[in-house]
Amino acid sequence: MERLQKVIAASGYTSRRKAEDLIVQKRVRVNGEIVSELGYKVKRGDLIMVDDKVIESENKVYFVFYKPKSCICSLKDEFNRKCVVDYFEDIKERVYPVGRLDYDTTGLLLMSNDGEFANLMMHPSSHLEKIYEVTVNGLVNGNTLHSLEKGVYLEGVKTLPCKIKVTSKDIEHKTTKLMIKLVEGKNRQVKKMFEMMGHNVKRLHRLSVGGITLNQLRPGEYRILKPQEVKDLKKLALMKKNRYKK
Ligand code: URA
Repeated sequence: MERLQKVIAASGYTSRRKAEDLIVQKRVRVNGEIVSELGYKVKRGDLIMVDDKVIESENKVYFVFYKPKSCICSLKDEFNRKCVVDYFEDIKERVYPVGRLDYDTTGLLLMSNDGEFANLMMHPSSHLEKIYEVTVNGLVNGNTLHSLEKGVYLEGVKTLPCKIKVTSKDIEHKTTKLMIKLVEGKNRQVKKMFEMMGHNVKRLHRLSVGGITLNQLRPGEYRILKPQEVKDLKKLALMKKNRYKK
């Protein structure tokens, strides 16, 4: 719980001194009620308004997280399994995953407390490019690659064209390592695409989203997205959205 004037100042609306003046001038409301006392303590979830403007009490924060194996993209789990948010306990803001990766999938996951940003990133029309490294059982042939790249029907809906490159084949163990570049993110999409062609996915790792990469991060680590990276992601998503609208 923090003092009202501090929360207003932390939002970037004005200085703490000026926030105190606003409170005394009875221009500040908390949950619809005017608050004129300077020591007022704000609780999580309180709606603060100065005149008619809503004050966002939490700073917007954005992270790139290296999701390890065996953790779920959720805020809490009924079976007590490790959740991605457990890695953010030292962050005072309440962040949540932007999109999802399966329990056994590793790699890049964006995390934020900015709902508008999350919606934009996850919206199907944003067509943000996602690159995965995938290892499948069996030796994948050219026909299979061609069909997957053109688009296949998953539950009656055709996948958008994508790009796939074979990185290596292990003839002895009969496995293929590939890179796949998608502009959509249907539930378990990569696994379903390969499974329907008879190749079970052994390992799935996301390398990048919208050009953002993990760089030097190791599993379980995160880094703050630079303001320019956040701007670029938003711009990219909006650009693609508008392009596909036409
Ligand atoms: N596709 C999948 O099948 N699983 C993931 O976790 C991400 C993409």
